[in-house]
Amino acid sequence: SRRGFLGLLLAAGCGAEVSGERLTSRLPLPPKFTRPLVLPKTARPTSPGRYVVTQRPARMEIIPGTTTEIWGYDGAFPGPTFDLRRGEQAVVTINNDLTVPTSTHLHGGVTPADSDGHPLDLVVGTTRPHHGGSTLHHRTRDYVYPLDQQAATLWYHDHRMDFTGPQVYRGLAGFFLIRDDEEDALPLPRGDRELPLMICDRSFEADGSFRYPALDPTLLFRHGVRREFMEGVEGDVVLVNGVPWPYVEVAAVSCRLRLLNASNARRYRLALRPGGSFTQIGSDQGLLERPLTRETITIAPGERYDVIVDFARYPVGSHVTLTDLLGGDVMRFVVTRRARDDSRVPSKLARPQPVDNPVARRTFDFRVKESTWTINGSPYLPGRSIAAPRLGTTEIWRFASDFHHPVHVHLGRFKVLGREEQGWKDTVDVRPYETVEVAVRFDGYRGRYMLHCHNLEHEDMAMMADFDVV
Ligand code: C2O
Ligand code: CU
Repeated sequence: SRRGFLGLLLAAGCGAEVSGERLTSRLPLPPKFTRPLVLPKTARPTSPGRYVVTQRPARMEIIPGTTTEIWGYDGAFPGPTFDLRRGEQAVVTINNDLTVPTSTHLHGGVTPADSDGHPLDLVVGTTRPHHGGSTLHHRTRDYVYPLDQQAATLWYHDHRMDFTGPQVYRGLAGFFLIRDDEEDALPLPRGDRELPLMICDRSFEADGSFRYPALDPTLLFRHGVRREFMEGVEGDVVLVNGVPWPYVEVAAVSCRLRLLNASNARRYRLALRPGGSFTQIGSDQGLLERPLTRETITIAPGERYDVIVDFARYPVGSHVTLTDLLGGDVMRFVVTRRARDDSRVPSKLARPQPVDNPVARRTFDFRVKESTWTINGSPYLPGRSIAAPRLGTTEIWRFASDFHHPVHVHLGRFKVLGREEQGWKDTVDVRPYETVEVAVRFDGYRGRYMLHCHNLEHEDMAMMADFDVV
């Protein structure tokens, strides 16, 4: 049976030391809130509906005074932001100028299976691939995104079999926004009052390179099963759009923050200091029916929260810190001036889309068995399908777990039953020993998709399964 590359390393190194802390950077960390927030560049079409993006290494000054080699879409981390409209198909050509194979998944996209970025549907880089049975594209491939779906904050990232963790950690992730007329008709903050914020954590080696333990197997063999692999890899530096603990100047107006947790493994419980609340307007798959006020937002890897923060409630000159109640600060907003604000949050947002009657129920049990990471008793087996939902139907899927697993379903969008989350989602954080039920709808396309844990180290240890929409 297959355990995944990390699983094999784990088995080989099997001791028992579990060290709890985040990976410590081996260079001095910069002071917080001294670097300005940067917004990723917007992807520009080469002709209407056509985009070309090249994955390549680049050097980037993340920690002031040193540079880090990143692997980026167009050499950027985060990659360029796609800002597109519902129903306007985009064809994205990905050129792979890295030395490793890649697969690009549009997370949250209703995408034909052959453009979904399956982990074995690889674009071969400048060296030969390792996987038997893969679909191989030499150096380049077109991904077709019809985008026939509700406006939402999606993101794209690498999904290579066994190596998603290290490849995303090196920078292969970006925003993919879909807009539509329904959302445009609402008086929400827009323009520079709308900020996509990709939050992720990293650690650094003394030479400025990213510190990722799988790149340092001696550690594994010396210490046996390390907590990084049980809990996933967590770093001691929080980046927002690739900048450590940035600040951004805002007017005393409402701003829309599109929060994405692109961390490999870390979850955040976000709050505002000195006080204040978030008005949640959207979730993974777009606008809620009604806004919700939240004091804190717990966001797991892969999840998105679309929120409004009203900076008019703070005096000019205030420092408003976005902090993580689970362990440290994230970024700071500096309220610099008064300004006119015509935006508001209407009491009705998306048109109601009730859940259809489910036609089937299935249980997926996420469990760690002796360093094998399984769903329903099996680690990922290429070619094996675990379920066959019918196109256009709704099913109840139960996710049971022994551990903390952010579960993500490709193609299907779901509502979480019996918990506080609202709206349509594609990722749900299943807590240790919890069972979560979701009502998942399969719209769009027939074909092979997958579900998996979005803790990227768990995913790389083969906690994934294919299913077929029939
Ligand atoms: Cu964001 Cu299959 O993953
Ligand atoms: Cu997991």
